[in-house]
Formats: sequence, structure tokens, C-alpha cells
Amino acid sequence: MHAAAASLPFDVERLRSEFPILGRETRPGVPLVYLDSAATSQKPRVVLEAMTAFYEHQNANIHRGIHRLAEEATESFESARRRIAAFVGVSDAAEIVFTRNATESINLVASTWGRTQMQSGDLIVLTEMEHHANLVPWQMLAAEKGLRLAHIPVDEGGRLDLDAYRELLSRGPRLVAFTTMSNVLGTITPAVAMTAQAHDAGALVLLDAAQSVPHLPTDFGALNADFAVFSGHKMCGPTGIGVLHARRELLEAMPPYQGGGDMIKRVSLTSFTPNDVPHKF
Ligand SMILES: Cc1ncc(COP(=O)(O)O)c(C=O)c1O
Repeated sequence: MHAAAASLPFDVERLRSEFPILGRETRPGVPLVYLDSAATSQKPRVVLEAMTAFYEHQNANIHRGIHRLAEEATESFESARRRIAAFVGVSDAAEIVFTRNATESINLVASTWGRTQMQSGDLIVLTEMEHHANLVPWQMLAAEKGLRLAHIPVDEGGRLDLDAYRELLSRGPRLVAFTTMSNVLGTITPAVAMTAQAHDAGALVLLDAAQSVPHLPTDFGALNADFAVFSGHKMCGPTGIGVLHARRELLEAMPPYQGGGDMIKRVSLTSFTPNDVPHKF
């Protein structure tokens, strides 16, 4: 299928016609041209129709009811989790946690794993090319817990200084968190090698894959990080849905992030038992 697709000419008009918003004009006779997909992509008709179809035919609260609509809505939700897991090369769909966006996925890790596992003086290694969603949660955690932050420098060609990275690893960081594709420079970082080096140094790795999952085939299994995040709205999906992938044993050890909803197995007036992963989150 890919070979056949590659031999077809790039049919701009056919592709444009799949995005209803591109049918509007910015001035009379001037069609809308949208070049801000790295910030958020436009939504193709098939996505808009799927959302409308859900509200017209299936709408119910997931994991709450035992009536037919609730069961269908729950199955749609869980089937999306399985398909997303397969899409990013994850064999255990329970390792896919839905959040609001990539930002919330990183905040979830900082607030749960970070708060419980990191101690005063611990080092987090970031890079100088991070989106602030992968800077501020660690700055907040560092201020709260007395952590140290260090940043891999970026050279004039927009690449990470990997000699400096090796030196930072020799300082024994607990976590290395970096982008797989820079939203500023477009740089694709050598994530497989950097992750392996971090593991050899005893650090866990969080990948900010918010730009690479929309742009490149992505295999989280091969990348082998401990945490990875991305979101739907940059890849033709709706606003308000994000993904955290984390190794199951990490998710099981992490405390819940927010209370309420489907995150309980049992609840009383004074206590609760957290649900199994991924529902605990
Ligand atoms: C590299 C990168 N990380 C994180 C984010 C934040 O993504 P979200 O809007 O899903 O929170 C962005 C958004 O521009 C980004 O480009």
C-alpha cells in the first residue's frame, strides 16, 4: 500500500478537501492557508464525523453504567486505547494512560513519580531545546524538593552536544527528560542511543514525543524509554486528549494523580482503594 501511495502524485486539492476548515476564505477569493500544524493541526472530516457520530449515537459516561450506551461508549474508549498502543508499538495497552494533553502527561509524571521518588539534591537532565511543558513541571518540582536541574547545550547547527550529555550522565542523574523532535528547530534527537546511555548511567528517561508521533512512525517499544508523552490535537485529533506511556511497573508503583472518577476500586467516606492501571490515572 505504501509503495502504491508513494507513486501517486501529491494531490493537494484532494487532501485540502478532507479538511472542511480549508474550504473557508480569509478574504474574498483567497483560500485559507494554514501553516501552524506544529502548534495544533486542523481536523479532517473523518475525525469531525466520528465525534458527531459518537454524540448522536453512543454518548454515555464511560466505565460508569451497565446500560447499552455506556457499554458501547466504554468499548469505543478502550478500543481507542488498544489502537493507540499498537500505533506507537506498545504491546500492553494498560501502559497507555489518557490525559488532557502532552503537558498534563508530563505534569502527571512530575507530580506522582517525581514527588514520591526524588529527593533533595537529585539531578534532572533536560536540554536547552525543550518546550516549556518539559521545563516548568521540573522547575516546580525542583523548587518544591530541592532538586538540581542541568541542561544539555545545543550547538550552532541545532544539535545536542552529546559530549556534554555524557559528562552530565557521569553526575548520576535520576531522570533524563528530552524531546524526540524539537518544536523550535525541528531537530530529531538520537533518542534510542541517548535513552540507552541514560539507562546505563542508572537514570530513568522521559521522552517528549509531542512533535515526533505526528510526524514520524514511532515505536515506543524500540525507543525503550520509561515514560513518553504526546497529544491528539497535533495529529488531526480533537483538543483535550493526550497520552502518557509508562512502563507498567512504574504506573503500578506511582500514586494516583487526581482523585475521583474511575480511579477508585473501592471508596468509603474516609478512604479509597486505587483502581488497577491504567484506570488509576
Ligand atoms: C515539543 C512539545 N512538547 C509539548 C508540547 C505541549 O503539547 P500539548 O499542547 O499537547 O500540551 C508541545 C506543543 O507545542 C510541543 O511542541
